[in-house]
Amino acid sequence: LLASFGNRSLAGLNVLVSAGPTYEDIDPVRFVGNRSSGRMGFAVAAAAAEAGAEVTLIAGPVSLSTPAGVARRVDVRSAAQMHAAVLTAAAQADIYIGAAAVGDYRPLEVSAQKLKKRAGAGLSLQLSENPDILASLSAQTAHPFLVGFAAETHDVASYAQGKLRNKGLDMIAANQVGGGLGFETADNALTLYWADGAVELPRAAKPELARQLIARVAERFRAARG
Ligand code: CTP
Ligand code: CA
Repeated sequence: LLASFGNRSLAGLNVLVSAGPTYEDIDPVRFVGNRSSGRMGFAVAAAAAEAGAEVTLIAGPVSLSTPAGVARRVDVRSAAQMHAAVLTAAAQADIYIGAAAVGDYRPLEVSAQKLKKRAGAGLSLQLSENPDILASLSAQTAHPFLVGFAAETHDVASYAQGKLRNKGLDMIAANQVGGGLGFETADNALTLYWADGAVELPRAAKPELARQLIARVAERFRAARG
């Protein structure tokens, strides 16, 4: 109780959180998306506000209300819009937590008119790669303390540690998706990795897990940046 109500570990800090999926339009009625509900990211934003941070939440298309204490929310749809919104807000941020499931690809062309079905023919969509938001932040000389997520179906530890290194992150939160955990579920379990350490946060409801994550982020932030 004391830990959750008395914890002001992020007081005075500006925390930027991205959450939810992105939708990449194909035509006026269709899109390419993913199964992120936004619940983990919204719980992280809520926990950061509870810990005393000034929180900006960049949200993809989700049906969730803004958590109490979150200072501002920017709604976006595509990965390109999320990229632009995060980069703008990151100039003011001490910590960026990338909990969004950013689409890796977008349709090369967006049709202005509804695509019509052609009987007997298949359809191939050509996709082009989206910029990596975390990697573009870490490439900047001055950037916030960077926390990524890695949702994996297999080889969780090695993929997560690879992303920590390759994207130049300060910390990564890894979870196994499937088996009743991860996307579209109330519970989650995370393993946190940083350059010279790791800790397991066992299965819990997302709000509780988010509080534990925020406590660790605060700890690592203080260790790295005073
Ligand atoms: N991420 C990002 N920009 C992207 C794609 C991902 O900032 N265009 C961030 C996510 O918000 C997350 C982290 O990178 O914090 C890892 O995302 P993930 O999809 O697990 O990794 P990828 O590098 O995209 O690799 P893959 O999808 O192949 O596993
Ligand atoms: Ca990806």
